[in-house]
Amino acid sequence: MIHVRLAKKEELDRVNDLRKQVYDLHASGKPEVFKPVFSQEVRDYIHVIWDDPEQDIAVAELDGKIAGVAILHHIQRPETPFMYVRDFLDIDELCVDEACRRRGVASALIDFAKGYAKEKGYHRLELNMWEFNRDALAFYEAAGFTTYRRYMEMML
Ligand SMILES: CC(C)(COP(=O)(O)OP(=O)(O)OC[C@H]1O[C@@H](n2cnc3c(N)ncnc32)[C@H](O)[C@@H]1OP(=O)(O)O)[C@@H](O)C(=O)NCCC(=O)NCCS
Repeated sequence: MIHVRLAKKEELDRVNDLRKQVYDLHASGKPEVFKPVFSQEVRDYIHVIWDDPEQDIAVAELDGKIAGVAILHHIQRPETPFMYVRDFLDIDELCVDEACRRRGVASALIDFAKGYAKEKGYHRLELNMWEFNRDALAFYEAAGFTTYRRYMEMML
């Protein structure tokens, strides 16, 4: 059984174990961008997130144990001469424990994020992902996300 809720402070170590899994994946998939070590500073950053009133940490319990996490970050960007106001919920650091994948945990986290956003009056979910991460892309597309913008590069 999957149950999604906001994390408790004493669960942040477990949240960090999951953050490390996604961090390591990024470090091996894009080594010229991500530092190889999930350092104490990166670990401690969870407290910055915890203290930020615009961010919440959602966790998914699978059979009573935390199996997945997502950071829910409300972003507001003021109008500029180029763009209208932007106001959305960004989903960051989504990760499901390697041992618990393909059991609907990430889908339950996205459902929770949708309900959370609706409750707060946000009308759009956004996330970004690294192109090498084909598993994440397959999941996000299955969950109903579409690509609206791309970052491109050329190595010289
Ligand atoms: C991407 C991730 C969050 C998906 O979590 P999950 O709990 O396994 O996803 P779900 O079980 O809810 O998957 C729902 C559907 O998405 C699709 N999907 C999920 N993972 C997939 C994969 N690896 N390959 C292809 N399709 C996939 C499938 O359609 C799946 O339904 P099915 O299992 O009935 O076929 C998980 O693989 C993960 O944590 N990966 C490492 C961290 C990461 O990449 N995070 C995203 C960073 S941007």
